[in-house]
Amino acid sequence: MQNILITGAGRGLGLALTKRFLEMDYFVIAGYQNLQENLLGLANSYSEQLMIITMDVTNEAEVAKAAAETVNRIGSLDILINNAGIHLEQAYLPLEEIDFNSVLTTFQVNTLGPLRVAKHFCKLLDQGSQKLLVNISSEAGSISDCWRDREYDYCMSKAALNMQSKIMQNYLKPRGIKILDLHPGWMRTEMGGAEADITPEEAAAGIFNLTQTKWRLDDGMYFDYTGKPLSW
Ligand SMILES: NC(=O)c1ccc[n+]([C@@H]2O[C@H](COP(=O)([O-])OP(=O)(O)OC[C@H]3O[C@@H](n4cnc5c(N)ncnc54)[C@H](OP(=O)(O)O)[C@@H]3O)[C@@H](O)[C@H]2O)c1
Repeated sequence: MQNILITGAGRGLGLALTKRFLEMDYFVIAGYQNLQENLLGLANSYSEQLMIITMDVTNEAEVAKAAAETVNRIGSLDILINNAGIHLEQAYLPLEEIDFNSVLTTFQVNTLGPLRVAKHFCKLLDQGSQKLLVNISSEAGSISDCWRDREYDYCMSKAALNMQSKIMQNYLKPRGIKILDLHPGWMRTEMGGAEADITPEEAAAGIFNLTQTKWRLDDGMYFDYTGKPLSW
């Protein structure tokens, strides 16, 4: 059985990904910050296939503990999906009113969160067969296609995540680990809002298909959930 770690699995895209991979017979380690009913329900239905684990991605000790528990339970990882993310209301403030606490908090989750998780879990990917690390990025992280005149925190956190992925790809290439930055589309989640284009289930289906592609280490890295290449 293939296995996968998904962060931010309690709701939104993380929950939809968890369901999708369970349906496709993966063993799923679902990291959560606040435990929610939906995830508990899945844990009951898929007791043999799902391990839920507390993992606030801003807390390195908690991430390290989760990695140690995963080593004990399954010893390897085929796929890691860094999904946890935030987009705070303060991001919409104009230049003159920027709230630096909001900027720093956003970086702690969206950029440094995936870095903490990769730091502690990459040794598990070494032992896996698929060796795929997916960062859920955003079109908002594209510098060349940027059209926004605010949202500094969110856009900069995802652009920095993209750079982080590129550096990490250079480092992990000799170990055969492939890294992807995926834009999940504009989804109807708490973050995306009711007016968004697609459901998180549609995004999760697209992302699942991309994880089943035979990636070569020199292939592109930045795509949307349908596999369309995005420009950095
Ligand atoms: N929605 C969109 O249209 C859209 C577009 C482009 C990219 N994205 C990206 O897609 C990913 C998922 O977004 P979403 O729409 O599903 O968002 P969401 O509905 O707001 O869910 C966010 C998830 O991240 C978790 N999370 C937040 N802070 C965390 C932390 N410190 N540690 C661990 N988990 C944490 C949340 O857990 P709690 O329940 O405990 O808060 C929740 O499970 C994010 O990376 C987002 O940036 C979303």
